[in-house]
Amino acid sequence: MSLESIFGLKGRTALVTGSSRGIGAAIAEGLAGAGAHVILHGVKPGSTLAVQEKIAASGASVSELAADLAEPGAGHDLIRRAEEIAPVDILVINASAQINAPLAELTNDDLTLQLAVNLGSTVDMLQAVLPRMAARKWGRVVSLGSINQLRPKSIVTAYAATKAAQHNLIQSQARDYARDNVLLNTLAPGLVDTDRNAHRRDGDPEAWAEYTRTINWMGRAAHPQEMVGAAIFLSSEACSFMTGESIFLTGGV
Ligand SMILES: NC(=O)c1ccc[n+]([C@@H]2O[C@H](COP(=O)([O-])OP(=O)(O)OC[C@H]3O[C@@H](n4cnc5c(N)ncnc54)[C@H](OP(=O)(O)O)[C@@H]3O)[C@@H](O)[C@H]2O)c1
Repeated sequence: MSLESIFGLKGRTALVTGSSRGIGAAIAEGLAGAGAHVILHGVKPGSTLAVQEKIAASGASVSELAADLAEPGAGHDLIRRAEEIAPVDILVINASAQINAPLAELTNDDLTLQLAVNLGSTVDMLQAVLPRMAARKWGRVVSLGSINQLRPKSIVTAYAATKAAQHNLIQSQARDYARDNVLLNTLAPGLVDTDRNAHRRDGDPEAWAEYTRTINWMGRAAHPQEMVGAAIFLSSEACSFMTGESIFLTGGV
């Protein structure tokens, strides 16, 4: 067996939501490097331009779709438009909304937004894409979870609950589609240095250094590229006997 036959994604198309920046951008570049045609996604048209240029410069083919996944039905519509480009073999559910607030300070609007983007659009996209993958007898779904799905911190109570629910959905659909060679798994990071943490990182560098020193056994935040190997594994033949599971990349907790 060659490495290419295990990890190669030549001939596959991957839609990566929230790939304008951060972990999604790194995963999109990684999947393109493994041979996939990648459909990038951000909220507004043109938001993925820098990532598009990087992927195109490497010689890989790339497209872009825009959608606000907080809008009702946006997930369905995104899959429909992606399938007009090419059959979606790999769906990476990466875009999410995260509003930091303990339960006592959580507003209804904050809860509604996180439920809509993290759970509602996941339901939409899975409803639209899973029957198509099943008909083609090949599919991979990589859902970005979080260490908070397992060990929630009170500052992200609602976000953590949506991530736990998202993984629960991945598990139920993994069971339903296992015999169709459509495999769904969760990639669950710990702290990753992205825009999401900019308020903490850029506001008080000393506090950030102390935070990262104590957040995990390695004493540092991950770089988004450290998520790529596991994402390629979960998108490829390599994970052919794995479904409904989570891979935790936390630096040790
Ligand atoms: N960073 C961490 O420490 C960490 C830890 C655990 C889990 N995660 C998970 O990993 C994933 C990526 O996180 P990240 O830190 O890379 O995120 P990020 O840097 O904050 O980027 C968020 C991405 O999601 C998109 N997005 C946000 N709201 C959207 C909406 N309403 N509709 C459509 N797209 C939307 C953004 O698009 P625009 O650029 O167009 O706004 C952007 O591409 C998320 O699921 C997150 O929950 C992150």
